[in-house]
Amino acid sequence: EAEVRINPSILAADFVNMQAELARIAGADFVHVDVMDNHFVPNLTFGPQMVGRIQATSPVPLDVHLMIDAPERWAPEYAELGAASVTFHLEAATEPVALARRLRAIGARAGVAVKPGTPVEGLFDVLDEFDQILVMTVEPGFGGQSFMPETMPKLRLLAERARQRGSAVWLQVDGGIGESTIAQAAEAGADTFVAGSAVFGADDPDAAIGALRSSALR
Ligand code: DX5
Ligand code: ZN
Repeated sequence: EAEVRINPSILAADFVNMQAELARIAGADFVHVDVMDNHFVPNLTFGPQMVGRIQATSPVPLDVHLMIDAPERWAPEYAELGAASVTFHLEAATEPVALARRLRAIGARAGVAVKPGTPVEGLFDVLDEFDQILVMTVEPGFGGQSFMPETMPKLRLLAERARQRGSAVWLQVDGGIGESTIAQAAEAGADTFVAGSAVFGADDPDAAIGALRSSALR
């Protein structure tokens, strides 16, 4: 049976009305929280203090996406504050497997993300060290960009490998996911879908989540 998770990204929400925005996505599986440091990506959002408040307020569990340098320094803090999952970038990590083990030991799901140009073959032999792998479908840094279909072969490779190994790892996509793109990502093997503008840009975010969910299952 197909499992589909829809994780709205609060990057597209109104930051000064965060509590009300979180209440609009009660039908989500996780709330996707984009942490940017203006070094790993050319944009800046918020850090552990804000994420701690979101954690305390959100009706759904947190899926934290760290677009930051030196994740070894910061990622465990997000696990400690109670985030359900913490995903760091492979390009920024010096010892990704060791960091994933630390996150799991704290009790979070451990995720690793790859930018559109980063190969995934290096992850093949360590799939089970991670609970989720995020294949970025845009260059990280900003919401509202166009989905890059050229990232789909990497997703297929990961999905095939995970199938061969009987791995339970979740395969996530992030960037440009909406009604017109979610089906191709699902078909390529994604089971977890981040959507910012497609959810928070809708009049009824919960209805948008439902529509995305059925499009992914088709
Ligand atoms: C981009 C972020 C995404 C972003 C997606 O760097 O990682 O999570 O919020 O936004 P949309 O869905 O609008 O492309
Ligand atoms: Zn993200």
